Amino acid sequence: MRVLGIETSCDETAAAVVDRHRILSNVVSSQADLHGPFFGVVPELASRAHMERVAGVMERAMRGAFGPGSGLSEARRLDAVAFTQGPGLAGALLVGSGVACALAAALGKPVLGVHHLEGHLLSPFLSVDPPEFPFVALLVSGGHTQLMRVDGVGRYAILGETIDDAAGEAFDKSAKLLGLPYPGGPGLARLAEHGNPAAFNLPRPLLKSGNLDFSFAGLKTAVMVQVKKLSAVRAEPVEAWPPQLLADLAASTQAAIVEVLVKKALSALRETGLRRLVVAGGVGANRELRQQLDGACGKLGLRVHYPEMSLCTDNGAMIAMAAAMRLQSGQQAPSTTYAFDVKPRWSLASLPVS
Ligand code: KG4
Ligand code: ZN
Repeated sequence: MRVLGIETSCDETAAAVVDRHRILSNVVSSQADLHGPFFGVVPELASRAHMERVAGVMERAMRGAFGPGSGLSEARRLDAVAFTQGPGLAGALLVGSGVACALAAALGKPVLGVHHLEGHLLSPFLSVDPPEFPFVALLVSGGHTQLMRVDGVGRYAILGETIDDAAGEAFDKSAKLLGLPYPGGPGLARLAEHGNPAAFNLPRPLLKSGNLDFSFAGLKTAVMVQVKKLSAVRAEPVEAWPPQLLADLAASTQAAIVEVLVKKALSALRETGLRRLVVAGGVGANRELRQQLDGACGKLGLRVHYPEMSLCTDNGAMIAMAAAMRLQSGQQAPSTTYAFDVKPRWSLASLPVS
């Protein structure tokens, strides 16, 4: 089954062609440079950039999949077109849904609206060593932090989630306080490599809450307090602080986020009695998180699955894959209703189960 997946929910314009579990092409055009000066995604700029880029990105995905001379004319070789229907920025989602519905309507092929988090969740099925159901999923992206019990395609039960900021947001907001460019997560992780994770005593929010919920807003405030204290005794702006001081702050912040994620994920495995963990979403690319999860789960004889590094952050392949798995499992009937409806707010737990 060949599916074209289109992702435009936030600040990446992406398209990919997936054939069963094989990626034929995967094109991502990042808007990080565009939003960087604002330290966050500007919805109107994102929508406009998606409109400018989406056709070219789709053409490149088709050429990558079907050969240099091919383009959208080769779309007849697809079995379905999938797009991210939500959650995300309304205007940005509309661009993906518009082009997907238009292309599918022109071809008379089925079109599928995919839940963005389901795409992340199922992205490890594109790896060489895919997981088996059931498993616990730790979904850690820029907008979401959730622990889930996954019994099959479309069968998701939320075990816990963040009550305020997401893990990726905690990385990004702390990185901003340290003077790093947006999106700060990868930069903070790089800086942390040379830092001492015990240099600053930062809180581990909700670690002992007795449930599987998260909270990261207080951690960001604690980093802000540290930065303010240091600023009061230093003459230079934060960007000019000694590299070791910045590395220590970054490592301490990362250690606090990672410790909470690892301990809560282990609690979820213990509570459900499941022996497999799937980590997905942008923060899943964090090497410290991967090392600590591998170490802790290895000791207990538990398996951890990750998407390929390049598939941790937003991409079209995960959307195509989720659509293919929904069609193959019978969770979704192939639809030829080309309605432009998007769901900027959409809970994964509300997906229909057949
Ligand atoms: O899943 P994603 O691409 O977009 C959303 O659906 O939100 O996740 C983006 C988030 C950003 O917050 C980014 O800073 C974070 O993932 N991220 C990382 C790393 N790579 C991306 N955070 C920590 N360490 C990384 N290596
Ligand atoms: Zn995402």
